[in-house]
Amino acid sequence: MRLCINIDHVATLRNAREEREPDPVAFALRAEHAGVDGIVVHLREDRRHIKDRDVRLLRETIKTKLDLEMSLNEEIVEIAREVRPELATIVPERRQELTTEGGLDVAGQGDVVARATERLHEKGVAVSLFVEPDERQIDASKACGADFVEIHTGAFANAPTDKARREEFDRAQRAVRRARELGLGVNAGHGLDYVNMKLFREIEGVEEVSLGHAMIARAVVVGVENAVREMFAVMRGER
Ligand code: PXP
Repeated sequence: MRLCINIDHVATLRNAREEREPDPVAFALRAEHAGVDGIVVHLREDRRHIKDRDVRLLRETIKTKLDLEMSLNEEIVEIAREVRPELATIVPERRQELTTEGGLDVAGQGDVVARATERLHEKGVAVSLFVEPDERQIDASKACGADFVEIHTGAFANAPTDKARREEFDRAQRAVRRARELGLGVNAGHGLDYVNMKLFREIEGVEEVSLGHAMIARAVVVGVENAVREMFAVMRGER
């Protein structure tokens, strides 16, 4: 399982004082040196954390892969067509939310999603759709022409008991199997951390996980290199 790090929080900290530091681009390069497989940023319509400048500089500097999280907004789709990340992950976006709250309703807006997917494909950008572990959404993702789904692990991460977490794990595993049967690549993310990864690492068929909050929080305390090293150790079952 590959590990990608979402660095939106680094930009949030920078923007808190409208300062130049910490620079998410510098952070991304250090994360790469520490071994991550990719850098994830969400260019939100309101630009509350990551700015256009960050995306463009990351495109020019990082050597792993850029996963651009984005909504279906026309302007953002246009930027993605110009920047050409290795992967565009389409997520739902609401202005009031603290973070992406639920999966994308692909089944309910298939035409719009298919059109955006096609426009991204025209520029050679692979497309992932961030969906709940729900067969209907996965089938709809395939029908829209997506290359990947990213399984939303929020319900797994936030499960109140071990039993509930196990049930959510099983639900995620069924969703991964379904997606793979359809020939989709499978990523996963949201709410994964150094504790729940000890169960999540058992999942079969997930190519890549995308972690933000837990790793940036850890990096604040122990530094980015240690945060990355520790997460890889958990993923490998060494911790
Ligand atoms: N994947 C997607 C699609 C997301 O929107 C987010 C949150 O930005 C993440 C993964 C990472 O979630 P977390 O910050 O909870 O690790």
